[in-house]
Parts: sequence; C-alpha cells; structure tokens
Amino acid sequence: RKVVLAYSGGLDTSVCLKWFEEQGAEPYALYLDLGQGEPAEDVREKARAIGAREVFVWDAREEFARDYVAPAIKANALYGGRYPLFTALGRPLIAKKLVEAARRVGATHIAHGSTGKGNDQVRFDVTTGSIAPDLTVVAPVRDWNMSRPQEIEYAKEHGIPVPVTKESPYSVDQNLWGRSIEAGPLEDPDHEPTPEVFELTAEPEEAPDEPRYVELGFEEGLPVSLDGEELPLVELIARLNAVAGEHGVGRIDMIEDRLVGIKSREVYEAPAALVIIQAHRELESLTLTKDVLRFKPAIEQRFAELTYDGLWFTPLKSALDAFVDETQKTVTGTVRLKLYKGSSIVAGRSAPRALYSEDLATYDPESTFDESAAAGFIALWGLPARRWATVNPDPEQI
Ligand code: ARG
Ligand code: SIN
Repeated sequence: RKVVLAYSGGLDTSVCLKWFEEQGAEPYALYLDLGQGEPAEDVREKARAIGAREVFVWDAREEFARDYVAPAIKANALYGGRYPLFTALGRPLIAKKLVEAARRVGATHIAHGSTGKGNDQVRFDVTTGSIAPDLTVVAPVRDWNMSRPQEIEYAKEHGIPVPVTKESPYSVDQNLWGRSIEAGPLEDPDHEPTPEVFELTAEPEEAPDEPRYVELGFEEGLPVSLDGEELPLVELIARLNAVAGEHGVGRIDMIEDRLVGIKSREVYEAPAALVIIQAHRELESLTLTKDVLRFKPAIEQRFAELTYDGLWFTPLKSALDAFVDETQKTVTGTVRLKLYKGSSIVAGRSAPRALYSEDLATYDPESTFDESAAAGFIALWGLPARRWATVNPDPEQI
C-alpha cells in the first residue's frame, strides 16, 4: 500500500511518516513550496532519513499565485470581511499536488497532518474528493489523538530528530499570501498578542517616522507593477510584504467562525494581501458601474465562504469565477497608497477607462451635467413613495 503524505518537516508529519511505515504502508513525502520561506532541502533529507521511499520537493509558488491568489484578488476575498484566506487557498493546491504525486507512484492513499478541530482537514478531504474521488484520504494526527509529549516520546524512540530549541507555544502556518499565528496565550481572546508573535510586520509605534508611498499598477484586475516596475505576481507580493510590513501594515486580530462550528481567535499578518485588496477595491470604484459595485460584494462573500469551506473545486465556485472575471476587463490603472505606522491610506487613483468624469462631477457652472433634468427625475423616482403615503397616511406623521 502506497501513501503520499503532505510533509512539512515538522514533528507532526515526521511522526506520521514513521507511523505509516510501522503500519506496513510505503510512505512517500511531498513538500510543496508555497512561499512559506523555509529551506526545502533539509526537508528532503529529513523525510528520507525517516523512511520516505521518495521525497518530492516542488516549487508551486507561481501556480499558487496564478491559479489561487489571483482569483482571490479579483474577488477581494476576505473571510469574515478580514481574513485573506491564505491557508484556505493553499489547501486545494496541496491536495491537487498530492493527487499528482499519488498518480505518479501509483498510490491509493494520500495523507495530511491536520487535527480534528480545524478547517484544514475538511479542505484536504473535500478538495481531494472533488478531483480524485477514487483516492482515500487519511489524517493520522486526527485519528491517533497523541498529545505533544507523546509525539515527542514516539519521535525519540524512533530516531526522529526533535527540535532542541525551546518549543514555541504558537502554531504557525505561512505562505506567500500571509501568515497565521494560533494557540498558546492567544487562545485567550482578551490577551493582546506580544511583539514576538509577529514576523512580517513591525510594531506600528516602532515603524519609520516617515511615511512611505507605494504605487500599484493593475491590469484587468491584477497587480502587475510596484512603484512603476513590472513584476511577476510572486515577486510583487514578496516585495510588498517587506515594504508594508516594515511600516506595520497588515495585522489582523479576529474571532473567526470555523467550518466545524467553533469560534477561534486568529492572529494574522498579511501586509501585501491587505494592501493589494484595498488598492484593487479602490480601482474598481473608479472603473466599474454602480450596479456592478453594488452586486459584486455578495458574490465576493460567497467566493470567500466557498474557499474557506473547502469548496474550491466545485461548480458554484467556477460560476462565480466567470462572473468575477467578466467584471475585471476594465479594472486597469494605478493606485497610490500612503503607508504609515500601521495604516495604509489611499492617496490617489487613476485609470485610462475611469468612469469618473470631472466634467460631470464639478460644481463649476461649466459642468456638462444637466441640472435641469434633476427635478423631473426626482419626481418620477419618488412617485411610488408619494403614492404609498397618499393611500396609507401614517397618523403619527400628521
Ligand atoms: N484559521 C485559518 C484557516 O482556517 C488559518 C488556519 C491555519 N492552519 C494551520 N494548520 N495552522 O484558514
Ligand atoms: C489544524 O487543525 O490543522 C489547524 C487549524 C485549522 O485547520 O483551522
């Protein structure tokens, strides 16, 4: 029996690898680079030493940016209005690559290290099912219910290297679109995260005293340049993470509703994601019609929920993508933002196909807006309300 495990190099998935072998399975390991910034090469050796028959180390950053992050940008995807969904966006791609690896080695099973309390287990299981319903997904960490000390004991007994440094109380997940910090003291929702929790963002009060302006160029809804320099999306996100993070921009602290019914306290850092979505929305306000701008948020929210809930590869999600893509054809232009001690404020926006017209908007008498048409418009616009009030007079109003 062959099984391909999504391997992170951490304790959980290292123990999983060994455990599979003990169960008489042939384990394979897949490490996917989604921009989490860890050295992938040690991971290869470690997995091999533990017993992986073969270790796949794949750089999927470009595919992640193009097929997962880009649609999320166009959809201004924020779960609960705040969380940019980086973990949720990564899971379907990891599942897809696990399936690819399974096909390559002829495995019937794929595996991941999620616990039974989170969203990730659902995303792995459901997305795998929706692209390869013939494969079986296993989640040993969820099934065996070992405590941390038990895992460490198991690791020591089986010669798995255990980190010697004092263990961080936090659980961290990261890719190029953001970083999450959970557990430890953060489980008290009234406890303010201390500075060492953060890696991508400076403390706002310690950020530079001079504001930094950034200019983001968009083409058909996607960022293509930073401060006038054209960059591939992966590179643009990395640079913007550094710049915005240095100015303390990108922190999120929220209570989130998990798919499995519990509320959890989540701390995130996502400098580039928040700035890009802010700028993208701004450019949309300049280039899309009132009707589209009023309607699209409902689609965006549904998109975020489907992503969060592990329904990435589903017909509804594809249909929403088609809608969103249709709206993005004219979303081309530039947005300038001022980053300063934790805040990001739009300073200006321009677009070749801006619907804003100074001629129409100006209070100047030269305006091309026909004010004499307003009175007639208002008479008809208000007609139903007047008619209602005539037929149903409200005694309290008289
Ligand atoms: N709450 C976020 C989500 O559900 C982040 C989860 C982080 N995952 C993890 N394995 N640490 O997408
Ligand atoms: C996990 O269970 O692996 C982390 C939490 C989550 O999935 O939301």
